[in-house]
Amino acid sequence: MHQDIIDGLLQPVARISPKYFYDQCGSELFEAITRLPEYYPTRTERTLLKERAHDIAQAVGAVRTVIEPGAGNGEKGRVLCGILQPTHFVGVDISTEILQEGMARLRQEQPTVDARAVTADLTNHLELPEDIPFAHRLVFYPGSSIGNFDPPQALEWLRRARTWIDNTGGLLIGIDLPKELAVLEAAYDDAAGVTARFNRNVLAHVNRLIGSDFDASQWSHRAFFNTKASRIEMHLEADRGQLVRWPGGRREFAQGERIHTENSYKYPLPAFSAMLREAGFTRARWWTDERHWFALIHAQP
Ligand code: AVI
Repeated sequence: MHQDIIDGLLQPVARISPKYFYDQCGSELFEAITRLPEYYPTRTERTLLKERAHDIAQAVGAVRTVIEPGAGNGEKGRVLCGILQPTHFVGVDISTEILQEGMARLRQEQPTVDARAVTADLTNHLELPEDIPFAHRLVFYPGSSIGNFDPPQALEWLRRARTWIDNTGGLLIGIDLPKELAVLEAAYDDAAGVTARFNRNVLAHVNRLIGSDFDASQWSHRAFFNTKASRIEMHLEADRGQLVRWPGGRREFAQGERIHTENSYKYPLPAFSAMLREAGFTRARWWTDERHWFALIHAQP
């Protein structure tokens, strides 16, 4: 973790992986983002899941275990469990405390579900509990989280998800679709400045992890849509020239120099379906909202 951050900071264009957004404060800020008027993905997906619950349950069929990587506070998982009634739920996340609370709430609200919390960094190997039945698993990956990987890593992730299920299993995944520029950019640069705080908070987290002395107040939030790559890019831009130090290292940043903190890809449905096929998911069904802003896809081997 330590070396990964330092390597990123020393790149010609410095970068910090978006996985470092999610300390306690960052996770809370992300939850606040999902409630912003400009941030449409969470709301659109939730409505889709609610309004199409019957179709989705029919398409997915019998499910014994739902596995949700990046389960966060477990809110979406609880909704899905209400629809599919699995016997087991495995929530996976790097943020332990919020996940534990979410799983406790699921057990309380739906006592027939054996809900487990697995703490893991999803960019590494995932160790699932051994007693979880292999047949009839559903990997649930909502929120367009797949969009935060670059396409080769997204493909790799889908291939890995394929190994968590057998031929009776499936994947239910949310993806954010390309849309009008103004809508996209407002979603990542909201009027209340919550996304700016979320972006800057990564510097406080990095300071704690590697002992650096970033002054977050000296960095501005930048978010824009890169049309060619079909992705929102988030950066932090230095308000003035500054030297950032950490034990054993340092980097000078000129005024206006940026640290790239996140990409959020917006996949057209045909491109994403091709990626699913490449990963071994040959059958797919999808549901979108009436504005075609977001899609939920059920894919099977
Ligand atoms: C978690 N992930 C899907 C969010 C997204 O939309 O890419 C993270 C986020 N970054 C800024 N706002 C939300």
